[in-house]
Amino acid sequence: MSRTVYVNGAYLPEEEAKVSIFDRGFLMSDAVYEVTSVLGGKLIDFAGHATRLARSLNELDMAAPCSDDALLAIHRELIARNDLDEGMIYLQVTRGNPGDRDFVFPGPEVAPTLVLFTQAKPGLADNPTAKVGIKVISIDDIRWGRRDIKTVQLLYPSMGKMMAKKAGADDAWLVEDGFVTEGTSNNAYIVKDGKIITRNLGTDILHGITRAAVLRFAREAQMEVEERPFTIEEAQAADEAFFTSASAFVMPVVEIDGAAVGAGTPGRVAARLREIYLDESRKAAI
Ligand code: PDD
Repeated sequence: MSRTVYVNGAYLPEEEAKVSIFDRGFLMSDAVYEVTSVLGGKLIDFAGHATRLARSLNELDMAAPCSDDALLAIHRELIARNDLDEGMIYLQVTRGNPGDRDFVFPGPEVAPTLVLFTQAKPGLADNPTAKVGIKVISIDDIRWGRRDIKTVQLLYPSMGKMMAKKAGADDAWLVEDGFVTEGTSNNAYIVKDGKIITRNLGTDILHGITRAAVLRFAREAQMEVEERPFTIEEAQAADEAFFTSASAFVMPVVEIDGAAVGAGTPGRVAARLREIYLDESRKAAI
């Protein structure tokens, strides 16, 4: 069944939704995005995603397409029109269509392009993969230096997932100067002696909305958290490993570059954090 999607003020069947070939998102990757999960027809941490979107736009001198309230209304309308119970809403803002190709940013007369669509994922919260965990490989992090801005430059993350697939794994963790930065589309963690370790925020990783929530819940549950970089060797010798993202929540990692992490099965800390995260997020969903 065809989805109803949103493009620049209009709700349209997906087949009729169009963006110009001159759009800077298409020609220059001059665009930012957000992925917000939906559970029980409600948005998880919309405020966090809206705040990060505003920050990404601001860092790139890009105009906001509309107010946060208007964005919320569009998200809700798409949930209603597509009868979405579990899944995600993808949002993208580009610097718009200047009518030709030019490296120089267009002036304020060019309006940003705003596109949103739903992705239904029944069983997202009960994902059976969370019971068995996933395998990752490590690859060099050769992305640009402003990974804190959520741009649509996703070629290398896509290549990383393909490298993982080719190696018989599920995903890749990126390594720079000997330390793990993050996963291709998620934030990376290890657990050692009960302590949760994850890289500190900076321009070298995306400031995950799920990361912020999970660390808050962990601290509230009196779990110890240390924000610092770690190596692949340290991760392989850890008791547990996991990642977080808006689309996977908390996902155990049971193998890194062929070496089992802990017992090679999902750990207790990751399982508990996943449960707390889902419970608390559902309660706060809007
Ligand atoms: N990815 N790091 C990277 C590089 C990401 O692309 C993502 C999210 C995260 C986790 O951020 P959050 O918890 O806010 O989802 C970290 C989304 C889900 C995606 O590209 O589909």
